[in-house]
Amino acid sequence: MADVQTTGRPSRRRAIRNLATLIAGSPLLSLVDAGGNPVEAAQTAPGGQGGGRQGGGQPRGDRPPVITLPVYRDEIMKVINLHEFEDAAKKALSVAAYDYVAAGAGDELTLKANREAFGHYWVRRKIMVDTSKVDTSFELFGKTYDHPILLGPGGGKNIIAADGERLSALAAKKTKAIMVGGQVPMLADMGKKGEAPVWWGATLGEATQQQAVDFAKRSEDAGASALCITVDYPYTSARDRPSRDQWDPEWARTHVYGTSEFRIGFQAGMLDPYTPNLTWEWMKWVRPVTKLPIVMKGILTAEDAKLAVDNGVSAIIVSNHGARTLDGMGGTLDALSEVVEAVNGRVPVLVDGGIRRGGDVIKALALGARAILIGRPFLWGLAAFGQDGVQRVVELLQGELRIALGLSGAGTVKAVDKSFIRPAWKPYNRAMMSGSASR
Ligand SMILES: Cc1cc2nc3c(=O)[nH]c(=O)nc-3n(C[C@H](O)[C@H](O)[C@H](O)COP(=O)(O)O)c2cc1C
Repeated sequence: MADVQTTGRPSRRRAIRNLATLIAGSPLLSLVDAGGNPVEAAQTAPGGQGGGRQGGGQPRGDRPPVITLPVYRDEIMKVINLHEFEDAAKKALSVAAYDYVAAGAGDELTLKANREAFGHYWVRRKIMVDTSKVDTSFELFGKTYDHPILLGPGGGKNIIAADGERLSALAAKKTKAIMVGGQVPMLADMGKKGEAPVWWGATLGEATQQQAVDFAKRSEDAGASALCITVDYPYTSARDRPSRDQWDPEWARTHVYGTSEFRIGFQAGMLDPYTPNLTWEWMKWVRPVTKLPIVMKGILTAEDAKLAVDNGVSAIIVSNHGARTLDGMGGTLDALSEVVEAVNGRVPVLVDGGIRRGGDVIKALALGARAILIGRPFLWGLAAFGQDGVQRVVELLQGELRIALGLSGAGTVKAVDKSFIRPAWKPYNRAMMSGSASR
């Protein structure tokens, strides 16, 4: 688990850290530049928790404390950004399981577009602003949360990690992340033991009024604080990677691969209905029977955003399902402004798709998002390292968000507005957006 090392013998890494702390704190060591000023690298000892000494032995004065992230076992700490969790998960998973999570639909044009969209905007940083109080908190439905990073709904947690649903929920609780979706009886049970995170019931829609009402009531009774309906899944899509792996739709239930006598999932050219008859009627069925806010996930256009608000949704998530449905749609960040404008402040707008860095979060907030969701990154964390992996993913992203808030001049999530963003002069290239620049 996080925060503590349980072995009696200090690890080599711990020993190096201790030595570094000793050296950095030593008055004998004065790291200065050519002009005699303390250099940045000596500002804090690795792992220091505030009250450290500036290079040159100067006390930190009234500067705020250093914020470091919780420490996990070495193999987790070596993973230093969200991109790298994918590599770690790939090593831990079977080809079929990795492909299931990683794949987008078709040529994966939309999958790439989700990531590339972050290269279409650049941050406008402001200087000489007091950002000594960095604050990642945000408000939604009248409540304040620690940070605006939500865990998106994601099926298959139990096949990428034993007990993955529960471990994800425990990690959400620990990192104070809102979790969207999850197994309702399990979450009800966890709620009774005080182990459940703040969570929203999630559905891809129901075919009948009775089923829709049952979903709402079941979730509300089990302790959900909102309902999320994903509206972008009338049919499953063709996904080449799972199709090639002969994806077994029964795997999640049986935990044995290749036993399905039924059919191969996501196979080339197959039209597989899921909720083709889902319409605005769903809102008419569910809105009157629950007091919970209803969040609609999967909206990408101004027309649909207006209809959603007119039909009584309490928030919208701009999402293309992590590019797992219709290939050929643009990146979600590029659709965000259109939706935010159409909604015109009537309900909060959230966004997901390709968010991997604290700077990405700032861009989403600046374009009008209230908060963001991540999908694959936390699933990679889960697959590679279980609960700790999910926690590290959320903590890293929150940590990077703090840095971006501190450096951009915004300081707080609430202060980020459109003055912090501009269209890119020149888009980043694809290699940079996939994180290869960091390896
Ligand atoms: C393996 C997997 C399963 C998913 N299952 C669902 C789901 O059941 N319902 C849903 O609304 N979205 C689902 N999503 C989409 C995510 O909630 C989220 O919108 C998307 O992953 C965000 O993009 P990102 O993966 O680039 O962060 C799934 C995504 C993945 C990767």
